[in-house]
Amino acid sequence: VNELRNKSQSGFTVQSPKVKYTDSDITSNYTYRTTDVSLEDGKYSAAPRETAYDFKTERKVGKVGVMMVGWGGNNGSTLTAGLIANRRKLQWETREGPHAANYYGSVVMSSTVKLGTDGKTGHDVNIPLQGLLPMVHPDDLVVGGWDISSMDIAASMDRAQVLEPTLKSLVRKEMASMKPLPSIYYPDFIASNQGDRADNVLPGSKASMEHVEHLRKDIRDFKQANSLDKVIVMWTANTERYADIVPGVNDTAANLLNAIKTGHEDVAPSTVFAVACILENAPFINGSPQNTFVPGCVQLAEQHGAFIGGDDFKSGQTKMKSALVDFMINAGIKLTSIASYNHLGNNDGKNLSSQKQFRSKEISKSNVVDDMVFANNVLYEEGEHPDHTVVIKYMPAVGDNKRAMDEYYAEIFLGGHQTIFLSNVCEDSLLASPLILDLVLITELFTRIQWRAAGESEFKGFHSVLSVLSYMLKAPMTPPGTPVVNALAKQRSCLVNIMKACVGLEPENDMTLEHKLF
Ligand code: NAI
Repeated sequence: VNELRNKSQSGFTVQSPKVKYTDSDITSNYTYRTTDVSLEDGKYSAAPRETAYDFKTERKVGKVGVMMVGWGGNNGSTLTAGLIANRRKLQWETREGPHAANYYGSVVMSSTVKLGTDGKTGHDVNIPLQGLLPMVHPDDLVVGGWDISSMDIAASMDRAQVLEPTLKSLVRKEMASMKPLPSIYYPDFIASNQGDRADNVLPGSKASMEHVEHLRKDIRDFKQANSLDKVIVMWTANTERYADIVPGVNDTAANLLNAIKTGHEDVAPSTVFAVACILENAPFINGSPQNTFVPGCVQLAEQHGAFIGGDDFKSGQTKMKSALVDFMINAGIKLTSIASYNHLGNNDGKNLSSQKQFRSKEISKSNVVDDMVFANNVLYEEGEHPDHTVVIKYMPAVGDNKRAMDEYYAEIFLGGHQTIFLSNVCEDSLLASPLILDLVLITELFTRIQWRAAGESEFKGFHSVLSVLSYMLKAPMTPPGTPVVNALAKQRSCLVNIMKACVGLEPENDMTLEHKLF
């Protein structure tokens, strides 16, 4: 019996000379262990390496707000209802009986990590991920945002057709008082079939500095009105078309700012939002697939030390893919093709029925196995990769209950084949909303973590591009020139192990030698 399994989970302290707690911070002196590989006389030579870092985590979380772009959409309204339902510990009737609010699907709120082993019994002691470091609690988040549709968030929730009527009736009053701020709408970037909901827009249909300044003021006003210490901005608005990368327009920070000033047609609304957030030092995360973070935008974030992250929430089909393909290739099975079909009937599907917007999604969904294929040089020759096709169709009748069907075709021992069919009905917004929450909670945490190499006097923040968010994102953005990791298990260990490092704990090595070496 694991004695400690259900004992207090209200925090822990680390007993180590390398970890110091003060009222304001937790500081850890951490040894990062890696392996350097080189080629000597035609053979690999591997040398263990140790690098010493100090991590400092500010303990005071402060008051945090999240502003969603596309607040009146399926995700925005569903997350808002979910936060209220949890904060008020609501229960509602369903045809299966009473149901209570929960945070299922949130890796921060509903998954656990191994803290260590019970000294007496040798059993694992697990705690919620949320308990590893001081993090903002969702109950304390203040929600706001923008939408090109003027509907209040209660009406948006009805339009989304996601939640049970009994739950909706309990949150309706509070949500009816929530009204999205007018947003910027450049019709060329989203499908023309979205035009009829655009009744809440700022004047001007192309990028301008007035737009940037207006959005900056919206963020400042929201912060002030709610006495917030920090605001995180999340793009959960429609998928835009790709912006062309044009030298002189969006390739450098200075060119991008100039292109906004002159109203260049290739500056997307999402990029204008990103620029406003960078200048306002509000972290900006892109939950859609388009290339919001053109090179000039990344450079601007670096210049301002502002946090950005993206792209495209990884909720259903791709999450399965990044787990399943990781398993297959690591099992030594040669995956040779993936055929992915989706049909969905929500507004996202309607927008994606337009070719240019679909193309953004297709690109985002296509590269998700590259790192796993590249890593296995036994199964794949250089440059060889499985065939991969992605189809998305708009089917109004199925609403938010997206269907994702995949065929994985693989070569096994001595010319045999394995074919896996996967059919996944994923209630889209109910999967995506907890991811938005995770992105907010983890991003906020990383605004409070600083690091320095041993011997340095000054602490500094992580790189502007928060690749630690990869677990929640389909096409994870990484600092320029650094590798992308898509494999789901690696993405989770990265997050957990960096968090552990901040309290001076070793990465989980899963060896459990204590149970093997008697
Ligand atoms: P939705 O279509 O219901 O909501 C998008 C909202 O954005 C709409 O209310 C629309 O009026 C608003 N909007 C469009 N342009 C805007 C602008 N410039 N400024 C402010 N508001 C604007 O879509 P849903 O289902 O909420 O998804 C949102 C985004 O998240 C989509 O781009 C989708 O591709 C992406 N996504 C969703 C996933 C999921 O739901 N499982 C998974 C991965 C990505």
